[in-house]
Amino acid sequence: VKISDLRTPAFLIDLKKFQRNCRRMIEKARKLKVRLRPHVKTHKTIEGGRLQLGRELDGITVSTLAEARHFSEAGFEDILYAFPLTPDKLPEALHLTRRCREFHVLIDHTEAADHVERFARRHEETISCYLKVDSGYRRAGVDPRSESAVQLAGRLADSRWVRLAGILTHAGQAYSSHTAAEAAAAAEQERRVMAEFGERLRDCGIEVVVSVGSTPTACQVESLSGVDEMRPGNYVFFDKFQVDIGNCKTEDCAATVLTRVAGVYPDRSEIIVDAGALALSKDPGATHVQEAPPVFGSVAGRPEMRVAGLSQEHGLIRCEKNTRVDRIRIGDLLEILPNHSCLTAALFPAYAVRQEDRIVDRWIPVRGW
Ligand SMILES: Cc1ncc(COP(=O)(O)O)c(C=O)c1O
Repeated sequence: VKISDLRTPAFLIDLKKFQRNCRRMIEKARKLKVRLRPHVKTHKTIEGGRLQLGRELDGITVSTLAEARHFSEAGFEDILYAFPLTPDKLPEALHLTRRCREFHVLIDHTEAADHVERFARRHEETISCYLKVDSGYRRAGVDPRSESAVQLAGRLADSRWVRLAGILTHAGQAYSSHTAAEAAAAAEQERRVMAEFGERLRDCGIEVVVSVGSTPTACQVESLSGVDEMRPGNYVFFDKFQVDIGNCKTEDCAATVLTRVAGVYPDRSEIIVDAGALALSKDPGATHVQEAPPVFGSVAGRPEMRVAGLSQEHGLIRCEKNTRVDRIRIGDLLEILPNHSCLTAALFPAYAVRQEDRIVDRWIPVRGW
């Protein structure tokens, strides 16, 4: 099958770039002397997970129990479910605990610890957890400078029914950076906060794995002393957001949305394509570095075009004034580089995997929760 035979909109993965991004991160982790526990939420496919790990089927990070189930059924034996656990998910967490060699849940509150402990005691099974730490993102996690954080860690470590396997953070604040140097500073903050908290716990006799991870920090970090593992995910695809904050080049981006021109409006220098919000997502991207008004994607090889608006199925592409829009034909193919590849990928039931202009594979992601 050739790319031009595909029904649009279609999610395209450039296999060589995906493989290269995976190899580079494996190499980076080796250089930093940390374990790579890649996040698979970006693509949610077994094929992608295997490439992220390289030769060995080692530990992975997931964002939903649906991913955990899917990867465990495919033979992945060490799974970290890195979203704060809610009580409704305990039965499945227990099932995965029994099924996998290692399965870890995430906790950042004493009430969540109560739920896990009560459930584990009732079922006479030890449930392994990571303690979520806020290293500056202010989304989830305990404050590592607080006394209550050490108390919660101590309680989890002492519990007969819970095992405290690690402490974990995600430096999402790195996405607010403007340059690679700013992301490197965020990475150093993430490392220092976690290494210090790990040290405080060690002083209390609590030994844990120290886990950090985001794509900007993993790409820009130079040292991870005091850290044991990192969990980037987006790097497999990258996207316009990562290009805009200076974290990668456009040529590194491995995921695009193939779309066809459905309407041509030369009088206003605009065209309509068949990739709307349900094919691209409506993530505004790196608005802090983007030109205003927001752009929802760029068009590969067409710097004079940008995705200026989205409704459910319509993508509005605005062209620079001197563009010969009258030469654009209905049915012409364009490739859009999305703002946020994780959200874009999640909208597609299947991915078309390309090498040059040929489709060589089809990957089916797992969906739902
Ligand atoms: C807990 C956790 N770990 C790791 C990641 C991976 O970060 P990135 O998407 O920047 O690669 C995320 C992303 O949201 C996350 O929430």
